[in-house]
Amino acid sequence: MGIPNVKALELIVLSLLAKRTLARKPEPEAVTDQSQSVKDYNRVMETNLTANYAVGLDLIYRTGVKTHGAKALDLCSGPGYFALCLAKYLNYSSVKGVDLSLPMVDSANKNSKQWNLSNRAQFFRENILHINEFSKYDVITFTNAAHHMPDVRVIKQILEKAQSLVKDTGLILLTDLARLKTSKLTEKFVRYAGREFIEKNMPAMYEDFHNSMYAAFSPEELSAAIPSHSDRLWVHIIPRGLTCFQALIGLPVGETSVFKRDSAQWATSDIHSSPDSISDWKVLKNVVNNAEIVLYHPSTNISKAAA
Ligand SMILES: C[S@@+](CC[C@H](N)C(=O)[O-])C[C@H]1O[C@@H](n2cnc3c(N)ncnc32)[C@H](O)[C@@H]1O
Repeated sequence: MGIPNVKALELIVLSLLAKRTLARKPEPEAVTDQSQSVKDYNRVMETNLTANYAVGLDLIYRTGVKTHGAKALDLCSGPGYFALCLAKYLNYSSVKGVDLSLPMVDSANKNSKQWNLSNRAQFFRENILHINEFSKYDVITFTNAAHHMPDVRVIKQILEKAQSLVKDTGLILLTDLARLKTSKLTEKFVRYAGREFIEKNMPAMYEDFHNSMYAAFSPEELSAAIPSHSDRLWVHIIPRGLTCFQALIGLPVGETSVFKRDSAQWATSDIHSSPDSISDWKVLKNVVNNAEIVLYHPSTNISKAAA
């Protein structure tokens, strides 16, 4: 993608100057079971989205929670790659992924076999709005999927459910796109950031990315999904300049510092599909390091405190 170039700078400037006028348009199909979409998304490890996965993995890594031998639940797992990355790169010993799309679940279980991880990572067809689960997890992840939900109240219910399923020592991680301020900006951004999907003959991926940028929640909207009652400190990471993604982290109970260590060496990891993905990772790492960090502590009614 090669983000830090003239086009990216133009997008940043336009974003800084823009007033928010773009209303949200929910996804036309919340569940991804259309065959071309499933096929294209199954090729995601060939794209620069691996840099986006590295960001999610790195956020977990930097909090310093136990990952080696730990147990993970991945919500809306799609073709399963982020869940498989939890096992492969952070050494989770048991990973369960759930998605409502049967073809996605089938792809994910095939990918798990291909990655030789089927003993540690399994995928099931389940609606995350009605999760029937009694185990406790060390991490619950929900990546690139909040924008598939009908509204922010539903995301709040999901995060509340996640709170009941995660150990006190565990972590909840949501990463997602953030809706840009205007449709003009969104169109320019999708043409720019999505061009590799056209180059790689992934038309459905391009179309889905386009729809997703309109379905994404703004950071203000997503902050309303933080559980009203929580023993945890919640952290909202909001990139400055071009706010096209965001992350919400529910820290372990009693934990007050967000990051315990520097990023892992993702630039030399084999997670990346290409040199472009490595350079995107480097840009995204800087973006996260310079992002606005907003802390929420629902149980003490300190609703907002900038760090
Ligand atoms: C964009 S994909 C994200 C996949 C993956 N988490 C990632 O980061 O690559 C969103 C997924 O959410 C799934 N989904 C949407 N609504 C769902 C629901 N209510 N329960 C379970 N999965 C759902 C879709 O089927 C789709 O596979």
